[in-house]
Amino acid sequence: MNVISVVTKPFPGQKPGTSGLRKKVKLFSQPGYLESFVQSIFDNLPDRQGKTLVLGGDGRYFNDVAIQIILRMAAAAGFGRVLVGQNGILSTPAASAVIRKRGAFGGIILSASHNPGGADGDFGIKYNLGNGGPANEGFTDAVYQRTQDISVYRQVAAEDIDLGRLGETRIGEMPVSVIDPVADYAALLESLFDFGRIANLLARPGFRMRFDAMHAVNGPYAHAILEDRLGAPAGTVVNGTPLPDFGGGHPDPNPVYAADLVAALADPKSGLSFGAASDGDGDRNMIVGRGFIVSPSDSLAVLAANHQLIPAYALGLAGVARSMPTSCALDRVAAELGIACYETPTGWKYFGNLLDAGKATLCGEESAGTGSNHVREKDGLWAVLYWLNIVAVREQPVEQIVREHWRRFGRNVYARHDYEGLQTAQAETLFAELRQKLPALAGSIVAGTRIKAADDFCYIDPVDGSRSERQGVRVILEDGSRIVFRMSGTGTEGATVRLYLERYEPDPARHEIPAGEALVSLAALAEKVARIAEISGRKVPDVIS
Ligand code: G1P
Ligand code: ZN
Repeated sequence: MNVISVVTKPFPGQKPGTSGLRKKVKLFSQPGYLESFVQSIFDNLPDRQGKTLVLGGDGRYFNDVAIQIILRMAAAAGFGRVLVGQNGILSTPAASAVIRKRGAFGGIILSASHNPGGADGDFGIKYNLGNGGPANEGFTDAVYQRTQDISVYRQVAAEDIDLGRLGETRIGEMPVSVIDPVADYAALLESLFDFGRIANLLARPGFRMRFDAMHAVNGPYAHAILEDRLGAPAGTVVNGTPLPDFGGGHPDPNPVYAADLVAALADPKSGLSFGAASDGDGDRNMIVGRGFIVSPSDSLAVLAANHQLIPAYALGLAGVARSMPTSCALDRVAAELGIACYETPTGWKYFGNLLDAGKATLCGEESAGTGSNHVREKDGLWAVLYWLNIVAVREQPVEQIVREHWRRFGRNVYARHDYEGLQTAQAETLFAELRQKLPALAGSIVAGTRIKAADDFCYIDPVDGSRSERQGVRVILEDGSRIVFRMSGTGTEGATVRLYLERYEPDPARHEIPAGEALVSLAALAEKVARIAEISGRKVPDVIS
């Protein structure tokens, strides 16, 4: 095989964040940048010889170019075979499903998730292990170390392959299989849910759903599963063709960026009763009822509380897990079920060990990510089918299901405020000040409220004992309300500060109060404690979800 060694240099800042390395396309596409990072991954996989690698991405700008580069490098690195999604497409959960089903050594997923795409947008890359899940911090730290002293990358001299044609081909001497990106994943989902019942629901004259793929990767998956397999009428899936720039939009399924869907469900003339959307790489979800948005933390709790209605989970849940800033609604369900509820740092990689060890069956994050042990990633369409299965069995609209849940467990009123693109120095000042205040905060009284505890979340993995520090500042009040501050690890411009607010409301008479209103005093307290507006000059957050 004709392997060429190319001299390269360390690029600064190739440190993977919450979910892989995310940077501007302009940075990623400069000569050697992607190559240095990929070689750093391969150099940390000493056992890769002859093994199978899965490769695909969310179809964003630069996806196709990056795939051909990685194929040439994988051949030079000695992989035995690469399974690549047709046209370079694999949603994040589908990649996880393929890795697991085909017993692959690992996989490379090209995505910057919900970040905007296009030539001026973002690109991203992450490595998943043989369990189908994101590599842990130990691995990503080692990759970062390698990027700092790399001097050469290797590739074979070979032409681009035709990614449009299914079947076997070769790059250098290495076989490449171009696979159907949907088949394995769709079969897996069909094995979990009651497709017959969901099909009946979709055929009911009074029921109409819309799935907004946001011009992102889930279009082909949703067409195949919802329309072709489950018989939803053509047109159920909108914005269903993946575009390199996501149609100029921001492929994040939240009330701001999926405002069209929310408006359609709020308009009685649309006749819609169920709405859903997913993000750039298909792992996030949003569920919308008639004039009613389900908050992601509530969604996770509702899924757990209704597990007995779903064929795959009817026999019971081993345990559940949520990221630290996710609301404690899930904990209440777990307590009633008598199962463990684990609290992990933000990012799906922390759920991997719990799922592998059989300690958790369902996991989720407040950032619109839910999933189960069927793969090792969060899974947007899985969540949509889970909800459809619940609605089909309970024969109740989405809003009623959530309101009944609140009546039974109480409502964990919740909001996340994002301050995007702050100057890095301002955000650093804010957190430095906050961390300094922590010891004195506990037990003190701020704005008339006693603070019960204040700390910087530190996680010790119950399976392998690994320690992850500085995972978000928590301020817990005497009545159990929580204020959490975190710095985003996925942004590519400046710093994004997230403020998470949560208050428990047991009184059903007060469940009608909009979250914004119910959390006003908590937001004011957060400002007293952290001075976000004062330090950053931002009076209001950019996104509230
Ligand atoms: C965000 C979310 C986090 C999620 C990640 C990847 O990370 O908050 O829950 O796992 O995207 O989708 P952040 O930007 O907050 O670091
Ligand atoms: Zn995503």
